[in-house]
Amino acid sequence: MRASTRTSLALLAVPTALVGVAACGARPSAGAATPTPSTATAERATPSFPSGWRFKTGEVATEGAQAMVVSNSRQASEAGVEILRAGGNAVDAAVAVGFALAVTWPEAGNIGGGGFMLMRMANGQTAAVDYREMGPGAASRDMYLDGNGQRTNKSTLGHLASGVPGAVAGMAQALRERGTMSLAQVMAPAIRLARDGFVVDSALAQSIAGTRCNFLKTGGEAVFCPGGTPMAAGARLVQADLGRTLQAIADMGPDAFYRGWIADSLVAEMARGGGIITKADLAAYRAEGRTVIRSAYRGHTLLTMPPVSSGGATITLTANILAADGAAPAFGTAAWTHLLGSAYQRAFAERNVSLGDPAFVKVPLEKFTSPDAGARWRRGIDMARATPTSALETRTMNDGDNTTHYSVVDAMGNAVSTTTTLNGSWGAKVWVRGAGFMLNNEMDDFATAPGKPNMFGLVEGEQNAVQPRKRMLSSMSPSIVLDPAGRLLLVVGAAGGPTIITGTSQVIFNVIDHRMSLADAMRAPRIHHQALPDSLTYEDGGLSAEQLSALTGMGHRLRRTSALVNVNAIMRGPRGGWQGVSEPRRPLTNGAVGY
Ligand code: GLY
Repeated sequence: MRASTRTSLALLAVPTALVGVAACGARPSAGAATPTPSTATAERATPSFPSGWRFKTGEVATEGAQAMVVSNSRQASEAGVEILRAGGNAVDAAVAVGFALAVTWPEAGNIGGGGFMLMRMANGQTAAVDYREMGPGAASRDMYLDGNGQRTNKSTLGHLASGVPGAVAGMAQALRERGTMSLAQVMAPAIRLARDGFVVDSALAQSIAGTRCNFLKTGGEAVFCPGGTPMAAGARLVQADLGRTLQAIADMGPDAFYRGWIADSLVAEMARGGGIITKADLAAYRAEGRTVIRSAYRGHTLLTMPPVSSGGATITLTANILAADGAAPAFGTAAWTHLLGSAYQRAFAERNVSLGDPAFVKVPLEKFTSPDAGARWRRGIDMARATPTSALETRTMNDGDNTTHYSVVDAMGNAVSTTTTLNGSWGAKVWVRGAGFMLNNEMDDFATAPGKPNMFGLVEGEQNAVQPRKRMLSSMSPSIVLDPAGRLLLVVGAAGGPTIITGTSQVIFNVIDHRMSLADAMRAPRIHHQALPDSLTYEDGGLSAEQLSALTGMGHRLRRTSALVNVNAIMRGPRGGWQGVSEPRRPLTNGAVGY
């Protein structure tokens, strides 16, 4: 396997700007009194799950002696492994997985959307690429309000809902700067899957059925619902137009998408449906190299995604709140659930008012990365009482919930953590005719009605108001964790709108605080709190009767849901090698493939 010979200043940038404020590297965070010898080789503890919980402890992970790829699509993970076995590194494989997901997981994997890729190379260098969508040049603050100032559904459905896609530019940039192979090489598996087709599995069949074949009558229904019937599991899905599109990108690079005939097709689709993305918008799109947020958590190092994703900042503030006052209470106790929920509530309260696109608004990142800020929030948590969110002076947020995360580790120890999305499932339900792909409805991740409740009764702030060529705030949280010896320990991220932040970080806390194996950490019951609505959400059967009673007694408004978050993770194995676990709550796909 060849090491990358190409470098980029943007990607290599050491995050000196954060060194003074974040607890960087292996420096213990303030107040982290707990001695934590937690490494992959340290003994793992078996948690106790409530008797009514759907999963048991002690399940096994997929093992890979050398390398591992975990995604929501087995075919896409296999595409990554194919590239690794052909000598590619983790970045080559990640880009191969990204393009393959656009074919095999079209509800969320995409070339018509955007995402974030976080990399940690075996030599310790870190890099991040932000390829979030951008508001079109003609976008305006109130474009989604009707004449009475009320929100319409145009930010979620139809051509106006789409931001300028970033996925092709971002993946190409990551490959150019950190990969070792050509676009044509890493895209070959995706092109093959599109042209020759692949067998639809039950998960994709369910997802297609869920669309009710509603692709705004722009051609997508002919591919996924031939004759008006949703494709069933076992059928062969061939996407000839998408195959041509991918081949053009492989041959000509991102310009084929942003300036060539694919751009023409996209703009023609906009014209048909009253959308506003122009060729000038597409030509102006740039992926951005970002400086990874490094923070310390109980002797471990967290590497997380900075704005315009809110994911890394919010996870870092949550960790700083938890670490500010000694050891974590035991897993499965009301004290842990209360503390964790209260920490999330405060971190989201800060997130919802403070974060936006740093190219447009001042982003006070130190409010998230400073251990002192975490300690201040921690002092406000009463371990006997829930705090009403209204007492925290917050606003809130609105995110979609159809996204997909994949994690890759190669035999050299390079690691890539990527989350990508169309926002809602199947995005704006708009298909680019002739080019064969879905467009995102990411404009809804802006505060489309700042200061007013959105369709979920939530309120967002001006930091994230719609502006031309601005990027909308995200919750995507591709993350990497190093053990106290500085070795790669965990590559993790999730899909699920705001629950991405809480789901990703709970796997991290389960591994570090509760010393769980990856299989247990992924199966442990999850909770979610996002400040507003002011409720603590838990998974059905995930809290014991004693916990429910204690939490209610503390004043928490509890909300039960069937399942929270779709996480895909890789962890260093206890005896070397890598363990992969794809989301156990989605049992129709085992997307973990190692060797
Ligand atoms: N569209 C979901 C997110 O970016 O958070």
